[in-house]
Amino acid sequence: MSLSDPGLTLAPRPHAPPEFDAGFRGQLHQLFRWRRDVRHFRPDPVSHEQFHALLDVANLAPSVGLSQPWRFVTVEDEGRREAIRTNFQHANACALASQGKRAGLYARLKLEGLREAPCQFALFSLPDPEQGHGLGRQTMPETLAYSAVMAVYSVWLAARAEGLGLGWVSILEPEAVAGILDIPREWKFLGYFCLGYPRSEAETPELESEGWEHRREADICLIRR
Ligand SMILES: Cc1cc2nc3c(=O)[nH]c(=O)nc-3n(C[C@H](O)[C@H](O)[C@H](O)COP(=O)(O)O)c2cc1C
Repeated sequence: MSLSDPGLTLAPRPHAPPEFDAGFRGQLHQLFRWRRDVRHFRPDPVSHEQFHALLDVANLAPSVGLSQPWRFVTVEDEGRREAIRTNFQHANACALASQGKRAGLYARLKLEGLREAPCQFALFSLPDPEQGHGLGRQTMPETLAYSAVMAVYSVWLAARAEGLGLGWVSILEPEAVAGILDIPREWKFLGYFCLGYPRSEAETPELESEGWEHRREADICLIRR
């Protein structure tokens, strides 16, 4: 009897769990430190294979009830991209008008890479997916959106590890975006994303180097009871 004999069934070979050593942990920490929200892109394309590899990573993210409620909608059509840019300009003008004494600084910020980014997608979460059978979200339906955000953060880190940059654009009107992309109105819009090779790398968030805000230490977010 040989190994290729169909009568011979082999027990599946168990996968040994990986051992993450100190070198890996150091690299992982660097990945967290050097992930940036990117708004300046080089024109180099992102291949379908690269994008699909990132979606494979998204599917490893945790999700409520294992529902995988995220839907990534790629936007390739130039007319739709133009409509997204127009909606951004409108939403950003409204945001600027509400800024008061910070308006001058706000007006100088670049808050999207919609014209340059070679790859663009919107992220939605489903309102009531069959997958997962409702587990975990009866009292907190918003866990579906949380799950999708976990997925895109996984994409964000994986992209950075590949030398790619991701930028989140939330200065958009969800209703308008659903219309532009012809998406069911009940899907929840979570953000529009620009993906591509960054023009530069930085350890400091752009909003910090532009003087808008700075990152604070861990103890500001810790409340003891
Ligand atoms: C939910 C969410 C929405 C965001 N929306 C925008 C946006 O519309 N425009 C923008 O320039 N950055 C946006 N950002 C990026 C943040 O400004 C950025 O994460 C923050 O300044 C810290 O910088 P870093 O991501 O490079 O560490 C968003 C980030 C998140 C998590």
